[in-house]
Amino acid sequence: MGKVITMKKIVVFTGAGVSADSGIATFRDSDGLWANYRIEEVCTPEALRNNRAKVVEFYNLRRRESLTKKPNVGHYAIASMEEWADVVVITQNVDNLHEQAGSTRVVHLHGELMKLRSERNPNLIYPIEGWEQSMDATAEDGALLRPHIVFFGESVPMFESACSIVAEADILIVVGTSLAVYPAASLVYYVRDRQVPIYLVDPGNPDTAMIRNPLTHVKERGAIGVPQLVEQLKNELAK
Ligand code: OAD
Repeated sequence: MGKVITMKKIVVFTGAGVSADSGIATFRDSDGLWANYRIEEVCTPEALRNNRAKVVEFYNLRRRESLTKKPNVGHYAIASMEEWADVVVITQNVDNLHEQAGSTRVVHLHGELMKLRSERNPNLIYPIEGWEQSMDATAEDGALLRPHIVFFGESVPMFESACSIVAEADILIVVGTSLAVYPAASLVYYVRDRQVPIYLVDPGNPDTAMIRNPLTHVKERGAIGVPQLVEQLKNELAK
């Protein structure tokens, strides 16, 4: 009888930094989006109610930009782990670069740029062709369409299933997130126990003060640090 090999479960939790090397701006770095836009004006339910044009335009710009971007070697390295591990990606990003790189299980905590949804019924979700949402487009329930994005002040519908996924992880890899936005940032506390190793790839200093698990901080940008880490884990695990 052949040996039964159970693949390690690896959860990769990503933020804007994983797409930075594809040329997409992060939010809180000095050149980040929130240096040029006020969150209250483009990313809240109040903004959508009071200044819909500005919100729609903001996401049209993000969508138009994202259509010109390609995955980088960090995204590809993450996808390649599926050859020897049981991998789920949980991303705060609204781009689809993980999918483009070949990752087959991707949970989007904060929504997806390439989808719109009914303002009335959150379950009526539609893919958008091209970059431009027109101001008066409606869903089949007659309500206006809005970007399929989780705004500040809204609940994060995928959070609970993301917690269950993290709780199954044998290894947690965190890439390119400041760990400043909750509840997403608290995912790192949902690992099964104190033994689960956590790897962080980020050139900056994300808020890791509360992490009690063994933590390895690879202080590199994603395009350098992620392939390095993946190679190391592959050598350790894929024997
Ligand atoms: P942030 O902008 O808060 O953090 C970006 C992280 O990426 C920082 O820790 C940087 O050090 C790191 N970084 C910068 N360049 C990098 C590179 N080349 N490679 C790897 N890492 C790099 O972005 P997030 O943590 O993703 O939500 O932000 C969380 C949420 O806040 C977003 O999902 C978005 C935002 O407001 C919504 O819009 C709802």
